Amino acid sequence: MKFFVDTADIAEIRDLAATGLLDGVTTNPSLVAKAGRNFVELVAEICDVVSGPVSAEVASTEFEPMLKEGRYLATIAPNVAVKVPLTPAGLKTCRILANEGTMVNVTLCFSAAQAILAAKAGAAFVSPFVGRLDDIGQNGLALIEEICTIYAAYPHFTTEVLVASVRNPTHVVESAKMGAHVATMPPSVIRQLFNHPLTDKGLSQFVADWAKTGQNILDQK
Ligand code: E4P
Repeated sequence: MKFFVDTADIAEIRDLAATGLLDGVTTNPSLVAKAGRNFVELVAEICDVVSGPVSAEVASTEFEPMLKEGRYLATIAPNVAVKVPLTPAGLKTCRILANEGTMVNVTLCFSAAQAILAAKAGAAFVSPFVGRLDDIGQNGLALIEEICTIYAAYPHFTTEVLVASVRNPTHVVESAKMGAHVATMPPSVIRQLFNHPLTDKGLSQFVADWAKTGQNILDQK
């Protein structure tokens, strides 16, 4: 499973990229507004830090301006994935950009039917929002399972399932069990993946016992 970080905070992106565990980045207009920076400059900087796909979302909702924005965003760097909403205009834009060789991430997917449309439109990624479905009392992970099952039945679908709106490590692990290709997570969730109380406890014990040996490994070279 690939790990993307869902943020427009360049300091967080640099920090996580240094772990060697980061495969890509997703941004959205809300995250960009929070970052308070020029969008195009920000995307260019992120693309310098991370070589994997970096999602940059169009702002227009009408087809023609959306296509123009998508084509422009695609010129920023070869690893830009243009993000479009799951609407008729978005899917029309997706098909054209995909035919031009641009990666497209179709976002705001909330049903299996929508995910089928995204695959048929040639999306590189479809982003089903797990947490936002959970928030309204539906089962976000059940949607991931449905989409993975459908896509597996049609091997010519090349669209990757990009699990979005991830709120906790359970969303990540359960999606991985279903074979989802990618999870995009806020930095806090990526950091939570490292944690286990028995790791902390075991490490404290090893550190204390090692001190009793009075040895230093590097002195033994
Ligand atoms: C995905 O690409 C979206 O940016 C993101 O996962 C939305 O998550 P949220 O529901 O936490 O805003």
